[in-house]
Amino acid sequence: MKIIGYGIRQDERQFVEQWSSQNGIGVKMTAELLTAETVDQASGYDGIVAFQQLAYSDELLEKMDQLGIHNLSLRNVGVDNINLEKATSLGIKVTNVPVYSPEAIAEFTVTQLMQLLRRSKEYARKFSNHDFRWAPQISKELNQQTVGVIGTGHIGRSAIKIFQGFGAKVIAYDAFHNKEIESQGLYVDSLSDIYKQATVITLHIPLFPETEHMLDREAFNQMNDGVFIINAARGPLIDESALIEALDSGKVGGAALDVMEDETKVFNQDLGKQEINYPAFNNLFERDNVLISPHTAFYTDVAVKNMVNISLNNNKQLFETGTADNLVEK
Ligand code: COI
Repeated sequence: MKIIGYGIRQDERQFVEQWSSQNGIGVKMTAELLTAETVDQASGYDGIVAFQQLAYSDELLEKMDQLGIHNLSLRNVGVDNINLEKATSLGIKVTNVPVYSPEAIAEFTVTQLMQLLRRSKEYARKFSNHDFRWAPQISKELNQQTVGVIGTGHIGRSAIKIFQGFGAKVIAYDAFHNKEIESQGLYVDSLSDIYKQATVITLHIPLFPETEHMLDREAFNQMNDGVFIINAARGPLIDESALIEALDSGKVGGAALDVMEDETKVFNQDLGKQEINYPAFNNLFERDNVLISPHTAFYTDVAVKNMVNISLNNNKQLFETGTADNLVEK
Protein backbone atom coordinates (compact mmCIF):
# COMPACT_ATOMS: atom_id res chain seq x y z
CA MET A 1 0.00 0.00 0.00
CA LYS A 2 1.14 3.58 -0.75
CA ILE A 3 -0.34 6.79 0.63
CA ILE A 4 0.12 10.40 -0.42
CA GLY A 5 -0.30 13.18 2.10
CA TYR A 6 -1.35 16.65 0.88
CA GLY A 7 -0.92 19.94 2.72
CA ILE A 8 1.78 18.46 4.94
CA ARG A 9 3.38 21.12 7.13
CA GLN A 10 6.86 20.99 8.58
CA ASP A 11 5.46 20.28 12.05
CA GLU A 12 3.64 17.18 10.77
CA ARG A 13 6.56 15.56 8.96
CA GLN A 14 8.14 13.82 11.96
CA PHE A 15 4.81 12.19 12.88
CA VAL A 16 4.22 11.05 9.31
CA GLU A 17 7.73 9.58 9.16
CA GLN A 18 7.27 7.76 12.47
CA TRP A 19 3.92 6.32 11.40
CA SER A 20 5.34 5.28 8.06
CA SER A 21 8.25 3.36 9.58
CA GLN A 22 6.13 1.78 12.34
CA ASN A 23 3.57 0.56 9.81
CA GLY A 24 5.94 -0.27 6.94
CA ILE A 25 3.82 1.83 4.59
CA GLY A 26 5.34 4.50 2.35
CA VAL A 27 3.81 7.97 2.64
CA LYS A 28 4.78 10.59 0.09
CA MET A 29 4.44 14.10 1.47
CA THR A 30 3.63 17.27 -0.39
CA ALA A 31 3.00 20.73 1.00
CA GLU A 32 0.51 21.44 -1.77
CA LEU A 33 -3.18 21.45 -1.02
CA LEU A 34 -5.47 18.89 -2.62
CA THR A 35 -7.14 20.47 -5.64
CA ALA A 36 -8.25 19.46 -9.12
CA GLU A 37 -4.90 20.88 -10.30
CA THR A 38 -2.69 18.95 -7.87
CA VAL A 39 -4.53 15.62 -7.66
CA ASP A 40 -2.55 14.12 -10.56
CA GLN A 41 0.36 13.76 -8.14
CA ALA A 42 -1.71 11.06 -6.43
CA SER A 43 -1.67 8.85 -9.50
CA GLY A 44 -0.56 5.34 -8.50
CA TYR A 45 -1.30 5.82 -4.79
CA ASP A 46 -3.92 3.83 -2.90
CA GLY A 47 -5.13 6.58 -0.65
CA ILE A 48 -4.94 10.29 0.06
CA VAL A 49 -4.57 11.99 3.42
CA ALA A 50 -5.39 15.71 3.35
CA PHE A 51 -5.96 18.76 5.52
CA GLN A 52 -7.15 22.18 4.40
CA GLN A 53 -9.76 24.87 4.99
CA LEU A 54 -10.09 25.23 1.20
CA ALA A 55 -13.05 23.38 -0.32
CA TYR A 56 -12.54 19.94 -1.87
CA SER A 57 -14.27 20.64 -5.17
CA ASP A 58 -16.57 18.28 -7.07
CA GLU A 59 -14.11 18.45 -9.98
CA LEU A 60 -11.37 17.19 -7.68
CA LEU A 61 -13.55 14.28 -6.52
CA GLU A 62 -14.29 13.39 -10.15
CA LYS A 63 -10.58 13.40 -10.95
CA MET A 64 -9.87 11.17 -7.94
CA ASP A 65 -12.44 8.73 -9.28
CA GLN A 66 -10.83 8.84 -12.76
CA LEU A 67 -7.44 8.13 -11.17
CA GLY A 68 -9.00 5.15 -9.36
CA ILE A 69 -8.40 6.60 -5.88
CA HIS A 70 -11.38 6.10 -3.62
CA ASN A 71 -9.96 6.52 -0.13
CA LEU A 72 -9.69 10.02 1.29
CA SER A 73 -8.76 10.59 4.92
CA LEU A 74 -9.03 14.09 6.31
CA ARG A 75 -6.70 15.02 9.14
CA ASN A 76 -9.33 17.20 10.80
CA VAL A 77 -12.87 16.86 12.12
CA GLY A 78 -14.99 19.29 10.03
CA VAL A 79 -16.43 17.94 6.78
CA ASP A 80 -18.29 21.10 5.74
CA ASN A 81 -15.81 21.74 2.90
CA ILE A 82 -16.51 18.52 1.04
CA ASN A 83 -19.60 17.39 -0.85
CA LEU A 84 -20.16 14.02 0.81
CA GLU A 85 -23.09 13.11 -1.43
CA LYS A 86 -20.89 13.58 -4.47
CA ALA A 87 -18.09 11.56 -2.87
CA THR A 88 -20.46 8.71 -2.02
CA SER A 89 -21.95 8.73 -5.52
CA LEU A 90 -18.44 8.28 -6.92
CA GLY A 91 -17.65 5.51 -4.42
CA ILE A 92 -15.12 7.69 -2.60
CA LYS A 93 -14.88 6.87 1.08
CA VAL A 94 -14.08 9.78 3.36
CA THR A 95 -12.86 9.57 6.94
CA ASN A 96 -12.21 12.33 9.47
CA VAL A 97 -10.59 12.63 12.89
CA PRO A 98 -13.57 13.21 15.16
CA VAL A 99 -11.51 13.60 18.34
CA TYR A 100 -7.89 14.76 18.23
CA SER A 101 -7.71 17.08 21.23
CA PRO A 102 -10.93 18.67 22.44
CA GLU A 103 -8.82 20.30 25.14
CA ALA A 104 -6.82 22.22 22.52
CA ILE A 105 -9.93 24.04 21.34
CA ALA A 106 -11.51 24.31 24.77
CA GLU A 107 -8.38 25.85 26.31
CA PHE A 108 -8.11 28.30 23.43
CA THR A 109 -11.75 29.28 23.89
CA VAL A 110 -11.17 30.08 27.54
CA THR A 111 -7.92 31.92 26.77
CA GLN A 112 -9.72 34.17 24.30
CA LEU A 113 -12.57 34.83 26.70
CA MET A 114 -10.11 35.76 29.43
CA GLN A 115 -8.41 38.19 27.06
CA LEU A 116 -11.76 39.82 26.24
CA LEU A 117 -12.73 40.07 29.89
CA ARG A 118 -9.34 41.54 30.85
CA ARG A 119 -9.34 43.82 27.77
CA SER A 120 -5.89 42.61 26.73
CA LYS A 121 -5.97 44.07 23.22
CA GLU A 122 -6.74 47.56 24.51
CA TYR A 123 -4.01 47.31 27.15
CA ALA A 124 -1.49 46.04 24.61
CA ARG A 125 -2.24 49.04 22.40
CA LYS A 126 -1.91 51.42 25.34
CA PHE A 127 1.29 49.83 26.64
CA SER A 128 2.88 49.95 23.21
CA ASN A 129 2.48 53.75 23.48
CA HIS A 130 4.02 53.66 26.96
CA ASP A 131 0.70 54.55 28.54
CA PHE A 132 0.81 52.42 31.68
CA ARG A 133 -2.32 53.67 33.44
CA TRP A 134 -5.04 51.23 34.56
CA ALA A 135 -8.11 53.28 33.73
CA PRO A 136 -10.44 53.22 31.97
CA GLN A 137 -10.07 49.54 31.05
CA ILE A 138 -11.72 48.12 34.13
CA SER A 139 -12.18 44.37 33.59
CA LYS A 140 -14.75 41.70 34.31
CA GLU A 141 -14.27 38.41 36.17
CA LEU A 142 -14.99 35.00 34.69
CA ASN A 143 -16.38 33.70 37.99
CA GLN A 144 -19.19 36.27 37.65
CA GLN A 145 -20.26 35.18 34.17
CA THR A 146 -23.06 32.94 32.98
CA VAL A 147 -21.48 31.05 30.11
CA GLY A 148 -23.87 29.65 27.51
CA VAL A 149 -22.24 26.70 25.77
CA ILE A 150 -23.92 25.81 22.49
CA GLY A 151 -22.93 22.27 21.57
CA THR A 152 -21.97 19.68 24.16
CA GLY A 153 -19.83 17.33 22.12
CA HIS A 154 -16.26 16.60 23.20
CA ILE A 155 -15.11 20.21 22.80
CA GLY A 156 -18.12 21.81 24.46
CA ARG A 157 -17.83 19.42 27.40
CA SER A 158 -14.14 20.08 27.81
CA ALA A 159 -14.83 23.84 27.78
CA ILE A 160 -17.59 23.40 30.38
CA LYS A 161 -15.15 21.71 32.79
CA ILE A 162 -12.69 24.57 32.48
CA PHE A 163 -15.35 27.28 32.88
CA GLN A 164 -16.64 25.50 35.96
CA GLY A 165 -13.10 25.34 37.33
CA PHE A 166 -13.04 29.13 37.17
CA GLY A 167 -16.32 29.31 39.10
CA ALA A 168 -18.48 30.49 36.21
CA LYS A 169 -22.13 29.47 36.00
CA VAL A 170 -22.56 27.27 32.92
CA ILE A 171 -25.76 26.70 30.95
CA ALA A 172 -25.83 24.56 27.83
CA TYR A 173 -27.87 23.84 24.75
CA ASP A 174 -27.67 20.91 22.39
CA ALA A 175 -30.34 19.18 20.34
CA PHE A 176 -28.75 15.91 21.51
CA HIS A 177 -28.31 15.63 25.24
CA ASN A 178 -25.18 14.26 26.85
CA LYS A 179 -25.86 12.22 30.03
CA GLU A 180 -23.10 13.82 32.08
CA ILE A 181 -24.23 17.36 31.25
CA GLU A 182 -27.84 16.38 31.83
CA SER A 183 -27.03 14.92 35.24
CA GLN A 184 -25.51 18.27 36.19
CA GLY A 185 -28.76 20.01 35.14
CA LEU A 186 -26.96 22.37 32.77
CA TYR A 187 -29.30 22.11 29.78
CA VAL A 188 -31.79 24.86 29.03
CA ASP A 189 -34.73 24.16 26.75
CA SER A 190 -33.97 26.40 23.80
CA LEU A 191 -31.39 28.58 22.14
CA SER A 192 -33.53 31.56 23.18
CA ASP A 193 -32.93 30.60 26.82
CA ILE A 194 -29.19 30.72 26.17
CA TYR A 195 -29.49 34.08 24.41
CA LYS A 196 -31.59 35.57 27.23
CA GLN A 197 -29.60 34.24 30.20
CA ALA A 198 -25.96 34.14 29.13
CA THR A 199 -23.39 36.88 29.54
CA VAL A 200 -20.97 34.85 27.41
CA ILE A 201 -21.92 32.63 24.47
CA THR A 202 -19.51 30.11 23.00
CA LEU A 203 -20.19 27.99 19.91
CA HIS A 204 -19.11 24.35 19.68
CA ILE A 205 -21.30 22.93 16.94
CA PRO A 206 -20.66 21.85 13.36
CA LEU A 207 -21.74 23.84 10.32
CA PHE A 208 -24.83 22.44 8.63
CA PRO A 209 -27.33 24.26 6.41
CA GLU A 210 -29.55 24.46 9.54
CA THR A 211 -26.83 26.05 11.69
CA GLU A 212 -25.60 28.57 9.12
CA HIS A 213 -26.11 32.13 10.49
CA MET A 214 -27.44 30.73 13.74
CA LEU A 215 -26.29 33.98 15.32
CA ASP A 216 -28.18 36.46 13.17
CA ARG A 217 -29.95 39.79 13.94
CA GLU A 218 -32.85 38.05 15.60
CA ALA A 219 -30.56 36.03 17.85
CA PHE A 220 -28.42 39.04 18.83
CA ASN A 221 -31.57 41.05 19.64
CA GLN A 222 -32.53 38.50 22.29
CA MET A 223 -29.16 38.65 24.05
CA ASN A 224 -28.09 40.58 27.12
CA ASP A 225 -26.44 43.93 26.50
CA GLY A 226 -22.67 43.61 26.45
CA VAL A 227 -22.65 39.84 25.86
CA PHE A 228 -19.33 38.27 24.83
CA ILE A 229 -19.30 35.92 21.83
CA ILE A 230 -16.70 33.24 21.18
CA ASN A 231 -16.54 31.27 17.94
CA ALA A 232 -13.86 28.62 17.54
CA ALA A 233 -16.16 26.35 15.53
CA ARG A 234 -17.08 27.52 12.01
CA GLY A 235 -17.26 31.06 10.62
CA PRO A 236 -20.66 30.87 8.87
CA LEU A 237 -22.38 30.08 12.19
CA ILE A 238 -22.35 33.87 12.68
CA ASP A 239 -23.79 36.44 10.29
CA GLU A 240 -20.86 38.85 10.30
CA SER A 241 -22.88 41.89 9.25
CA ALA A 242 -25.32 41.25 12.12
CA LEU A 243 -22.35 40.91 14.48
CA ILE A 244 -20.93 44.23 13.29
CA GLU A 245 -24.27 45.93 13.97
CA ALA A 246 -24.49 44.31 17.40
CA LEU A 247 -20.96 45.51 18.23
CA ASP A 248 -21.83 49.02 17.02
CA SER A 249 -24.92 49.16 19.23
CA GLY A 250 -23.13 47.72 22.27
CA LYS A 251 -25.41 44.67 22.31
CA VAL A 252 -22.24 42.62 21.91
CA GLY A 253 -19.49 43.77 24.27
CA GLY A 254 -16.73 41.79 22.62
CA ALA A 255 -16.08 38.85 20.34
CA ALA A 256 -13.31 36.34 19.80
CA LEU A 257 -13.37 34.83 16.33
CA ASP A 258 -11.03 31.99 15.48
CA VAL A 259 -13.07 31.31 12.38
CA MET A 260 -14.70 33.64 9.87
CA GLU A 261 -17.22 33.40 7.07
CA ASP A 262 -14.66 33.93 4.29
CA GLU A 263 -11.55 32.94 6.16
CA THR A 264 -9.79 31.27 3.23
CA LYS A 265 -9.25 34.77 1.83
CA VAL A 266 -6.97 35.57 4.76
CA PHE A 267 -6.12 32.76 7.13
CA ASN A 268 -3.05 30.56 7.03
CA GLN A 269 -1.11 32.79 4.65
CA ASP A 270 1.43 35.58 5.04
CA LEU A 271 -0.23 38.58 3.42
CA GLY A 272 2.47 41.05 4.41
CA LYS A 273 1.29 44.55 3.58
CA GLN A 274 -1.19 43.45 0.91
CA GLU A 275 -4.58 45.06 1.00
CA ILE A 276 -7.20 42.68 2.36
CA ASN A 277 -10.30 42.56 0.21
CA TYR A 278 -12.70 41.41 2.92
CA PRO A 279 -14.64 44.36 4.36
CA ALA A 280 -16.12 42.51 7.36
CA PHE A 281 -12.68 41.21 8.31
CA ASN A 282 -11.15 44.69 8.08
CA ASN A 283 -13.98 46.17 10.15
CA LEU A 284 -13.74 43.54 12.88
CA PHE A 285 -9.94 43.35 12.91
CA GLU A 286 -9.63 47.04 13.77
CA ARG A 287 -11.82 46.84 16.85
CA ASP A 288 -10.30 46.78 20.33
CA ASN A 289 -13.01 44.46 21.61
CA VAL A 290 -12.67 41.89 18.83
CA LEU A 291 -9.96 39.26 18.79
CA ILE A 292 -9.34 37.55 15.49
CA SER A 293 -7.11 34.51 15.30
CA PRO A 294 -6.50 32.55 12.10
CA HIS A 295 -8.20 29.24 12.97
CA THR A 296 -5.43 28.37 15.39
CA ALA A 297 -7.47 26.83 18.22
CA PHE A 298 -6.64 23.30 17.06
CA TYR A 299 -2.93 23.96 16.62
CA THR A 300 -1.13 22.19 19.47
CA ASP A 301 1.53 19.48 19.58
CA VAL A 302 -0.90 16.90 20.93
CA ALA A 303 -3.59 17.69 18.37
CA VAL A 304 -1.24 17.64 15.38
CA LYS A 305 0.26 14.29 16.36
CA ASN A 306 -3.19 12.75 16.81
CA MET A 307 -4.48 14.22 13.54
CA VAL A 308 -1.61 12.64 11.62
CA ASN A 309 -1.72 9.24 13.33
CA ILE A 310 -5.48 8.81 13.35
CA SER A 311 -5.93 9.91 9.73
CA LEU A 312 -3.19 7.57 8.51
CA ASN A 313 -4.70 4.70 10.53
CA ASN A 314 -8.08 5.52 8.95
CA ASN A 315 -6.59 5.42 5.47
CA LYS A 316 -4.89 2.08 6.18
CA GLN A 317 -8.14 0.68 7.56
CA LEU A 318 -10.02 1.81 4.44
CA PHE A 319 -7.47 0.09 2.22
CA GLU A 320 -7.46 -3.14 4.24
CA THR A 321 -11.15 -3.51 5.03
CA GLY A 322 -13.05 -1.21 2.66
CA THR A 323 -14.43 0.72 5.59
CA ALA A 324 -13.22 2.55 8.71
CA ASP A 325 -14.34 3.43 12.22
CA ASN A 326 -14.21 7.10 11.34
CA LEU A 327 -16.07 6.88 8.04
CA VAL A 328 -18.22 9.94 7.36
CA GLU A 329 -21.22 9.51 5.11
CA LYS A 330 -24.14 11.64 4.05
C1 COI B 1 -11.15 20.93 12.18
O1 COI B 1 -10.56 20.01 12.74
O2 COI B 1 -12.15 20.72 11.48
C2 COI B 1 -10.64 22.28 12.33
O3 COI B 1 -11.43 23.16 12.54
C3 COI B 1 -9.20 22.52 12.07
C4 COI B 1 -9.06 23.32 10.81
C5 COI B 1 -7.79 24.10 10.71
C6 COI B 1 -9.41 22.61 9.56
